[in-house]
Amino acid sequence: MQKNAQRVNEIIAKAVEKAHREIGQSVEPALTGRVRWPVESVIGPGLEGAIACESKVGYVNGAQGYLSYRGYDVLDLCMRSSFEEVSYLLLRGRLPTGRQIERMRQKLTSYRHIPRTLRLLMGFPVEKMNTMAALRLGTNLLQQECTRVNREIAKRDTSTAIGVDEDSFAMEVPPEGSKRAVYEFKGVLPARPTKAEKVCAEAAGIESCCHLIAGVPVISAAIGRVRQGLMPIEPDPDLGHAANYLYMITGRKPTAEQERIMDVALILHADHGMNASTFATLVVASTLSDIYLSIGAGIAALNGPLHGGANEQVIRMLERIGGPRDVGKWYRRQRAAKRKIMGFGHRVYKSYDPRARILGPIAHHLGRGRSKARTLLATAREIEKVVIADIGKEKKIYPNVDFYSGLVYASLGVPLDLFTPTFAVARVTGWTSRVLEYLGNNRIFRPRAVYTGKFNRQYVPVEKRG
Ligand code: CMC
Repeated sequence: MQKNAQRVNEIIAKAVEKAHREIGQSVEPALTGRVRWPVESVIGPGLEGAIACESKVGYVNGAQGYLSYRGYDVLDLCMRSSFEEVSYLLLRGRLPTGRQIERMRQKLTSYRHIPRTLRLLMGFPVEKMNTMAALRLGTNLLQQECTRVNREIAKRDTSTAIGVDEDSFAMEVPPEGSKRAVYEFKGVLPARPTKAEKVCAEAAGIESCCHLIAGVPVISAAIGRVRQGLMPIEPDPDLGHAANYLYMITGRKPTAEQERIMDVALILHADHGMNASTFATLVVASTLSDIYLSIGAGIAALNGPLHGGANEQVIRMLERIGGPRDVGKWYRRQRAAKRKIMGFGHRVYKSYDPRARILGPIAHHLGRGRSKARTLLATAREIEKVVIADIGKEKKIYPNVDFYSGLVYASLGVPLDLFTPTFAVARVTGWTSRVLEYLGNNRIFRPRAVYTGKFNRQYVPVEKRG
């Protein structure tokens, strides 16, 4: 088993060597250094070019095809680190000592135990819901677990509260003609946490972040199981973060190779500059809403096919095409219809996405033996060739992280509808790290829209409208 993981390490090392040959080993800084507010920038539609904030969490150089977390090249982290260590790094800004990483592992393991959240979640029709909608719901329910703020709420008298169990639900409907509800939720409504509690309680902030980083994969895996008509699986405290996630999805302990691959995939997806879901998360956090709701906003944004939802769409696209020989004809049809190719292009990368440099060869390695995976992989390789030859140089369109991640997940036994939740399982680390950082010097996000509508319109009563 160790030998298999060694093979993966060799594949990564080779991909990294190739990347270093092509893009160089050192970063070419662009858009770095302190911002002197107010800042001037050229802004395109979709806030292209806008500067939202300063950050020390991570850096993307799109022209070079370079990505780093807290100053460490992500390719280096893939070769040497683990997702737990990368989570510590992103949250705290430094690599942990041996004792610190051990404590981080223990913390994440203990926070995996979220029976109350799962029980509440299973009260909803999870099997019929979009998996990202279910994940978002589960993340909000996770807030009910015993976090610091909720422990304080739990101390209050809840004896007059209406119980909610499998057979009943609480009502808050005022009787007709009455000004107030008969039933009241006395004592259970949380007092609004003070700004100081939210912003300054750094330790509590880190606890909530770890709670989310540990909880999101458990919720994701449980959703996957229920959708397959299976019971959710208890987390295994003896397994690491990546291995436990795979175990809770498939019910099988992963091999060392599978564990290593999932770990690398999680590292690669952990953070990525001011992408749409990170921005959505920060917008909500900047209102001093709580971190669980902020992460819910990130999950909602990630769901779209232009963002994290692309990994699922890529597999559907590959399956529709049929095989590598059908690619040429299919591609001409897409171009004629001006349709975008899923898994290609990026707002920031104008060169090969470094994450795809690692995931491509891993997908290739995993796809060798299995005939369906082999066909999908061959189709993907052909699309890559055709797209780069056609619009690579001209429009700077190359494969992005989502082009190969789905093929990797599928080979690890992750069902299609868990691909995007699996992206969230990793990205929750970047989201939480950036929320912590941003709240340290918070200012509410409030851009403006340019009005292009009419003025001075006269109100017409409904009976006179044509
Ligand atoms: N296939 C073909 N042409 C493309 C593609 C593509 N996937 N992406 C961009 N283009 C073309 C686009 O047609 C346009 O051409 P023209 O200037 O002639 O009109 C030009 O490139 C610029 O495109 P854009 O839509 O203005 O670029 P954007 O920065 O607004 O969008 C994107 C970025 C990622 C949404 C887009 O490239 C896309 O829709 N890609 C497919 C979906 C996808 O793979 N998303 C995952 C993104 S990476 C992971 C993540 O962050 O979630």
